[in-house]
Amino acid sequence: MQFPIDRFKDISTPFYYYDLSLLRATLEIINENSDYPGFHVHYAVKANSNPELMRIISSYGLGADVVSGGEIERAIECGFDPAEIVYAGVGKTDKEIRYALEKGVGCLNVESLEELEVISALAEDCGIKAKVSLRVNPEIDAHTHHYITTGLAENKFGIDKSRILEIARRCVADPWIEFRGLHCHIGSQITIEDPFVALCERINDFQRQFEAAGIAIPIINVGGGLGIDYENPDENPIPDFQKYFNTFRDNLDLREGQELHFELGRSITGQCGSLICRTLFIKNGVNKKFLIVDGGMTDLIRPALYQAHHKIENISSDSTEKAMYDVVGPICESSDVFGTAELLPITHRGDFIALRSAGAYGEVMSSRYNCRQLPGCVLG
Ligand code: LLP
Repeated sequence: MQFPIDRFKDISTPFYYYDLSLLRATLEIINENSDYPGFHVHYAVKANSNPELMRIISSYGLGADVVSGGEIERAIECGFDPAEIVYAGVGKTDKEIRYALEKGVGCLNVESLEELEVISALAEDCGIKAKVSLRVNPEIDAHTHHYITTGLAENKFGIDKSRILEIARRCVADPWIEFRGLHCHIGSQITIEDPFVALCERINDFQRQFEAAGIAIPIINVGGGLGIDYENPDENPIPDFQKYFNTFRDNLDLREGQELHFELGRSITGQCGSLICRTLFIKNGVNKKFLIVDGGMTDLIRPALYQAHHKIENISSDSTEKAMYDVVGPICESSDVFGTAELLPITHRGDFIALRSAGAYGEVMSSRYNCRQLPGCVLG
């Protein structure tokens, strides 16, 4: 990626830099490769709710996948059609449910019988029939990081698969509920095809059970989870969407007129964003050199929280002379480390350091711990 370093010189660091041409190119590829009957892509707003990015995403005709009243509001402000919003989450408040009903949100993804009962009562109270999908826990191992896998039995998410039919019957019998379909999500940063194939097979099973019970499933929502290449962002700036969508086209037995929804987050915004920091000090330790930057875990928490690695580049220097550094931030926590034993060009105070592939779950997860300012944002 080419960074506009001259523009960066007058801007205070740290900040997120978003390459909007890469975002647009990604969206074009998504639209080209999901052009099958019934396929609809929803953008998972939790990955990045920056309004400028969201306006671009809505302009490509995607729907939105949200998890709070605040995200519903943000999505509508940024041009998403409320009917194309799907609303998930294990802990929706009464206020949020009423707001979703009043705004005409396309579907509430329900995670328990207890939640369904509350939605039905609130729908009756508002005089608005609630459109509902049931989130089923498909119990599929996504082989991703423990903290971001969601489809296994011990997770708090979704309804146990042995109870799904009984709860669907409850939906169909309820005059205040319109049963829209089934929702699943097996985890995030999935870079192999097998878990998605297993998910398709599991959904095919559900379809057979529902058909035998005489219950139609208008919409199947397979969640998100497609991963990105964190180690080679320049070689693989856009994930293999063709392969991803074809996996579902080839393995899922969709019925005539059935809709297939996707909720993609990381794969849409991940590669277009970088956290840009400046080097404060090169500190010579006893056995190593520390490259101390002005951005830290309050700006990008993924390395501290998930032991994630974002590619680190010195974008001020193209020197071929290299040295090994531990790249750390200024926060008073030992986990405030972006990388250990990173081979980088010889780095000096003032050099710009880019943490790549930070466009998803980066800016949105920043905090004001240590009374720090939130990171800024520069669009390219
Ligand atoms: N749908 C549901 C129900 C989800 O829970 C998620 C993500 C998505 C869609 C979007 O998944 P994606 O396409 O972005 O993988 N903060 C963590 C990731 C948490 C993912 C939470 N759920 C990280 O930084 O890796």
